[in-house]
Amino acid sequence: MREIAQLTRPQAVYWCDGSAAEYERLCQELVEAGTIERLSDARRPNSYLARSDPDDVGRVEDRTFICSARQNDAGPTNNWRDPAQMRDRIAALFGGSMEGRTMYVVPFSMGPLGSDKSYIGVQLTDSAYVAASMRIMTRMGQPALNVLAESGSFVPCVHSVGMPLMDGVQDVPWPCNAENKYIVHFPETREIWSYGSGYGGNALLGKKCLALRIASVMARDEGWLAEHMLILKLTSPQGAVKYFAAAFPSACGKTNLAMLVPTLPGWKVETIGDDIAWMKFGADGRLYAINPEAGFFGVAPGTSEQTNPHAMASIQRDTLFTNCALSDDGDVWWEGMTKHAPSHLIDWRGDEWTPESDSPAAHPNARFTVSAAQCPVIAPEWEDPAGVPIDAFLFGGRRATVAPLVREAFDWQHGVFLAATMSSEKTAAAAGTVGELRFDPFAMLPFCGYNMADYFAHWLKIGRRKGARLPKIFYVNWFRKDAEGEFLWPGYGENSRVLEWVFRRCDNDAEARETPIGLIPGPMDLNLSGLELAPRALHELFEVDHAAVRAELPQIRDYLDQLGERLPAEFRTQLARIERRLSGE
Ligand code: GTP
Ligand code: SPV
Ligand code: MN
Repeated sequence: MREIAQLTRPQAVYWCDGSAAEYERLCQELVEAGTIERLSDARRPNSYLARSDPDDVGRVEDRTFICSARQNDAGPTNNWRDPAQMRDRIAALFGGSMEGRTMYVVPFSMGPLGSDKSYIGVQLTDSAYVAASMRIMTRMGQPALNVLAESGSFVPCVHSVGMPLMDGVQDVPWPCNAENKYIVHFPETREIWSYGSGYGGNALLGKKCLALRIASVMARDEGWLAEHMLILKLTSPQGAVKYFAAAFPSACGKTNLAMLVPTLPGWKVETIGDDIAWMKFGADGRLYAINPEAGFFGVAPGTSEQTNPHAMASIQRDTLFTNCALSDDGDVWWEGMTKHAPSHLIDWRGDEWTPESDSPAAHPNARFTVSAAQCPVIAPEWEDPAGVPIDAFLFGGRRATVAPLVREAFDWQHGVFLAATMSSEKTAAAAGTVGELRFDPFAMLPFCGYNMADYFAHWLKIGRRKGARLPKIFYVNWFRKDAEGEFLWPGYGENSRVLEWVFRRCDNDAEARETPIGLIPGPMDLNLSGLELAPRALHELFEVDHAAVRAELPQIRDYLDQLGERLPAEFRTQLARIERRLSGE
């Protein structure tokens, strides 16, 4: 703290204790600064709306850097920078960067306090919005400091919005340095430095920076898994319980699946986590998962009583909204929340908005920040330091074509291959072109802190562990579209039909047919009772178009080639097998 204060020269230093009173004070300060406004207590008690700078609305992958000593340890999918040069850059950027501001000292625990699966971080930040958000998203304050006093080890995280208030500089509601963002990781020394952004994963450093990029490196070294996965508990009508972990890219349905309301009678889904899973082997050879986070930073647009009623219930009160629209009665609104938009709103930029306006009222990456404890279906064991044993992994992305609704991998190696070669249409969660198809292996493309080929090798190694009782691996796609561009599958609660099939497959209690790309249920094997689907849709959802699969192989091969010489030989074997199966041998 002293060292960083010397470098950044804040006007004051404040140690966060994590109390409710402190959160209130931070919010009060933010109201006075114009960063947030309080919503109507009648509509949304104790809740606030923040409007960010229009140039600071999501993660910036092209400004995210992995500074390993050797370039090849970051690998071709990461932006590598020489650590020594980056340290010089950091010294220049952070020198005096907090002038005129308060530096908040934010100790936090990722994972339940004091659990042997948890890690402590300490974030120094000049943003009160970030300090307040960290209180929701992590176990923050004095209790984390107490754990640190025992263990003595932590991941240092330094964050500055990069807008020092030198003499005469007027503050703005959302300070940032839009032209000059740096999200920097030193995997070997396990350090995080973030400059210029106050938004989401760029700034709440426990989340993507620590719990994924740095933790993935720790997990590689120590034989565990740090993944971009939700964790859910599924209970059958007979009361049998299984736990699934699912990796979908950003804004591709993790929060929704984690809180799903099954349309199948008698089935129940409860939430353990909605974004990140840390998994270690238990003495019984199973993988036990914890949710390192304490809150949800969830996508607002598309969230409604119909699509995700449990999320809607979670955010009734005590919620910090960012970049949503403001209604005339002092509540929030976003596209998809209600069938009809209100006749008048203030949009996320702070401008007047009516349904005739030609831009969305809420930013597509508008988010709610809320404590996980507020979720009505949070599982009672969600904070169990031992974690929950995972029965199945689900992978998937947004694919308008080719990928069927669900398939099961033939075995672990095939599952790793499917996850490694998954692709998805880009979303508004990160800067870039929405809708563009890209490979997003394991939904970890922006979050793997080391060489992707080594990461694949790590997953294969996990599969070879002696005595391991591994989860089955599945690949799902809720986003297949018809020729008119409409979704073929209703999604959301109806996804419970797929969860049921996965559950039964884990018990060898459901049928599947072998195809070149995996084990697929016939329409009769999936419980579709009560679901109205056009016969054409049904056919397409379960179809394996051999020509289309074959047409994708050259792209997959090119992609794997780009990952370099560290790519495990197993991937060539898997490719050869698909080709063999396609040619009917
Ligand atoms: P991150 O927080 O960015 O990691 O995203 P996430 O994976 O948790 O995504 P989330 O569940 O918030 O969903 C993002 C968007 O996808 C929302 O607009 C949802 O309404 C939409 N969505 C989620 N599930 C489904 C589904 O089954 N079908 C369709 N069509 N859309 C879905
Ligand atoms: C994601 O983009 O995957 C998120 C949101 O979960 S952020 O925390 O901004 O990365
Ligand atoms: Mn995410």
